[in-house]
Amino acid sequence: MDARPTEHAIDAADAATLSARFVQRFGGSPRLFRAPGRINIIGEHTDYSKGLALPAAIDRACMIAAAPNAKGLLRLVSLNFGEEIGRPAATFERRDHWSDYVAGCVAAVQAEGYAPQGWDMVISSDVPLGAGVSSSAALTVATSLAITSYANEPPDLERVRVLAWTAESRFVGMPCGPLDQFASVFGKRDHALMMDCRSLTADVIPLPANTAFVLIDSGVKHRLVDGGYEQRRRECEQAAAQLGLNALRDASAHDLERVEPPLRQRALHVVTENERVMQTAAALRAADVVTAGALMAQSHKSLRDDFAVTCAETDALAEIANATRGVFGARQMGGGFGGCVIALVDATHARDAAAHIVGAYERRWKIGGDWFVCQTADGAGEFHP
Ligand code: GLA
Repeated sequence: MDARPTEHAIDAADAATLSARFVQRFGGSPRLFRAPGRINIIGEHTDYSKGLALPAAIDRACMIAAAPNAKGLLRLVSLNFGEEIGRPAATFERRDHWSDYVAGCVAAVQAEGYAPQGWDMVISSDVPLGAGVSSSAALTVATSLAITSYANEPPDLERVRVLAWTAESRFVGMPCGPLDQFASVFGKRDHALMMDCRSLTADVIPLPANTAFVLIDSGVKHRLVDGGYEQRRRECEQAAAQLGLNALRDASAHDLERVEPPLRQRALHVVTENERVMQTAAALRAADVVTAGALMAQSHKSLRDDFAVTCAETDALAEIANATRGVFGARQMGGGFGGCVIALVDATHARDAAAHIVGAYERRWKIGGDWFVCQTADGAGEFHP
């Protein structure tokens, strides 16, 4: 069997290691902050059209041991990359380096009019990188939480969300919507968030018992700053403008006849996906996992045929998954152009289903195959060991 479940989630032992590393390197006594990655059950590429989505925070997280320093420096240690970097706290300069996400949060606080502040941080994350589960939101949310928690108690979580989003969109330069940071901040264990991306509010939807989510990495790395994501976003804005609307959230399928292809297909995805989000939320509330799964499979087709953000590998993965016993439904998740596939599964068969899917995928594509079963988790918070 080729299947490789990835290592399990950060726990108290990791927290102790993180603190010890901090004390060894910087001295003093840091506080610990944790922010999870997220899944998105359905509602893909709807957030920047002010639509609906159904994310949940997961039991994979970024954890940071942090304390302010009086040196005017960001001194950042990544346990994942085995690297320490120092950069000035007062000015932000994009370096195309992981530390940009942290520096972007510090810059976002300063852009609010606060004086520059140096920080020491030791960072560790078990959210897989570039797989569509928002490793970057986990990092920016954990950083923003650390920074704001030292200034305000209790921290203002809405401000944390905004700072994390500002860091990623304004400073790192990924023109993301609000989905990832919202889910990482406000997620709730055993629940999904039925998120309204216009009002930035959510209803919590209890998840049916004995279900789990399997995430399978296609091995095709997406880099959302590379342009495909931004192009789709622009296309949605153009389609809305052609309809005289502020955002595609307000379009109906009937309106779309007035939009020229390919913008018509892009808009069709958004309109039908918003509908599927509502139907999935209702199905999950009724513990109707079969209907929820069928809607996820339809979402993949829409992402493939109308929104054109899938690739041959994720199409194959979704197809295999949707035909696997114990899987209710599967689809490509996240920004797209690769990344991972999410499957809603019967928890009893989760590992068998994952092993089957990965085995079939690897035989055909000879790549990828990292996978994990995840449960939903609470959103970001200070970690008290
Ligand atoms: C990325 C972005 C989100 C969202 C998804 C697609 O994760 O960061 O804002 O647009 O893609 O649903």
